[in-house]
Amino acid sequence: MAKSILDFLKGKPKGNFLELLKSRKSTYEFSDRDVSNDDLRTILEAARWSPSFRNLQPWEFVVVKNKGKITKFLQSAHYGFYDFGKHGSLPPVVIGLVLKKKYWSGEYGFPSTDKAGVFEAYMSLAMPAMNMMLSAQELGIASCMLNVRESLSYKFVHLEDGDCMPIMLCLGYEKPGAKERKRERKPIEQIVHTEFSAGVK
Ligand SMILES: Cc1cc2nc3c(=O)[nH]c(=O)nc-3n(C[C@H](O)[C@H](O)[C@H](O)COP(=O)(O)O)c2cc1C
Repeated sequence: MAKSILDFLKGKPKGNFLELLKSRKSTYEFSDRDVSNDDLRTILEAARWSPSFRNLQPWEFVVVKNKGKITKFLQSAHYGFYDFGKHGSLPPVVIGLVLKKKYWSGEYGFPSTDKAGVFEAYMSLAMPAMNMMLSAQELGIASCMLNVRESLSYKFVHLEDGDCMPIMLCLGYEKPGAKERKRERKPIEQIVHTEFSAGVK
């Protein structure tokens, strides 16, 4: 029985949106080409219309376009694959996603047993992050999301008391000849379970 239920996973996925999703990749080498203000406006509008816990919209966005400031800003980033600064491939725009303290410090979120608001606030912040990447992708703009080293972010970014900036988004155009990176995902059968295969209690 479990096998036949999982048979639908063998079907071919449909729709253009999936093509857009799959065409997005993390870009780690950017050319000098700037992102137009029109495109930036569109990308920020995609962020603004993101869903959030209780529609609290716990975010603010810091747009950085000055090369010197971008260099400084990126010093708080956690580099996994690439250090833009070292390779002279800085993105022309970086957007810092700021989480406002008041939305995760207790007033909002689930009361008592849960850490008030923290999970909801962080999960909410992922929504504009993804929306901005996909909106950029639709406009032909490459992107890369970078974690921020919290202790360093306070050194390089002016944040109001208690606010934090857990993530930043680099935007621009991929440098011609950029190194290809192998991109993979786990097979769908490994990550999707039904009540039969996972055993709902
Ligand atoms: C929340 C989040 C944080 C990330 N932080 C970093 C980072 O600090 N450094 C980095 O090199 N890549 C970072 N990435 C990019 C991931 O490594 C990348 O998305 C993953 O390897 C899959 O590759 P793809 O984006 O090309 O599909 C981050 C991605 C996400 C969603």
